[in-house]
Amino acid sequence: MDETLSLSVVVPTRNEAESVDALVSSLEPELAARAAEVIFVDDSDDETPDRVAECSLTAALTVRLLHRRPEERAGGLGGAVVEGLRQARGSWVCVMDADLQHPPATVARLLEAAEAKDLDLVVATRFRDGGSDGGLGALRRAVSRGSAAAARLLFPRRLRGVSDPMSGFFLVRRSAVELQRLRPNGFKILLELIVRSSFRAVGEVPYAFAERHAGESKASLREGARFLVQLVRLRKPEATGRLARFAVIGLSGLVVNEALLALLTERARLYYLAAAVISTQTAILWNFALTERWVYARRNCQFDLKGRLVAFCLVCTTAQLLTIPILYLLVDSVGAPYLVANLFAIAASTLVRFSIAERLIWKRPPSVT
Ligand code: GDD
Ligand code: MN
Repeated sequence: MDETLSLSVVVPTRNEAESVDALVSSLEPELAARAAEVIFVDDSDDETPDRVAECSLTAALTVRLLHRRPEERAGGLGGAVVEGLRQARGSWVCVMDADLQHPPATVARLLEAAEAKDLDLVVATRFRDGGSDGGLGALRRAVSRGSAAAARLLFPRRLRGVSDPMSGFFLVRRSAVELQRLRPNGFKILLELIVRSSFRAVGEVPYAFAERHAGESKASLREGARFLVQLVRLRKPEATGRLARFAVIGLSGLVVNEALLALLTERARLYYLAAAVISTQTAILWNFALTERWVYARRNCQFDLKGRLVAFCLVCTTAQLLTIPILYLLVDSVGAPYLVANLFAIAASTLVRFSIAERLIWKRPPSVT
């Protein structure tokens, strides 16, 4: 009997008690003609599971609840989606949010596109042919577009034809997903799926991202950080440890910089701008020494120590200058609070410095074969 289902709708939920009922009611007419089930994979601490249980008694659709206890919530949103994929019985699986930002009417259109063109994956996109991301604030929109651009830069081939790799709304052929290869971590599960599966044919259907029905978004700075780690882990798994050490060194350099600035200004009575130049340069040297010893200690490099030092100083100074326009853009055009914007600017500059360190400064010599 299980194999007769055509569609499983997987809905990850965390504290969405007020949206569950509205979502199921609006899915019912859309899926009436289909053998479909709705699976809520729930990590809530509110009454969401009770609302789902009530729906499962009254709805015209099969409604299932997979509640994960606090100690079972590995991988957050992404982990929940993978759990839903594992339990799904439909030949197609549609993943969507509970808060009605993803219009239920689009589900049928995703399915039609998949069947008509025999696709393995159909992504609902905000960025093509009449789609829109109107339901996001200016800051989130900028972050979303920025991360889409970063992902496209890192995975040009895999993401060809995918205009919205950050989408949380898509439909996959269940048999095309290689579940055991997935390592979900937070929000960006679609990227994980695309990079780790080998989908033959991929399509897109535009939709308008709506306002949230109720409750609040769970997107956070922590999710942003998770995404950056995930990008590196997907692109270059063996570099993740080096990036972590590089970032820790960056933080320690910040401390050195501040401490020395205070010392030179207060104790040595230097003019603070002169003190800033000295402390910044010292921090760069500090970062260089630690990076040499702790990140690339065993690496055989193409450039000698002096070359690496000069390149590192240049790159750091340039990266520092670059954070200023980024900061300006985020604060003045996007309206981000300047402290948050500064964190983003620092994170972005760390990633840029790391990728130059990997590819250029501590580059291995060309292999002679
Ligand atoms: N099970 C589970 N566990 N569900 C979660 C978790 C979690 O840790 N965190 C969030 N969710 C659920 C929410 O309850 C909601 O149903 C859905 O995942 C999306 O979370 P939101 O907090 O509403 O995210 P958003 O609206 O800011 O962003 C969404 O839409 C974007 C555009 O498609 C996400 O799906 C993004 O990934 C997506 O880019
Ligand atoms: Mn949402």
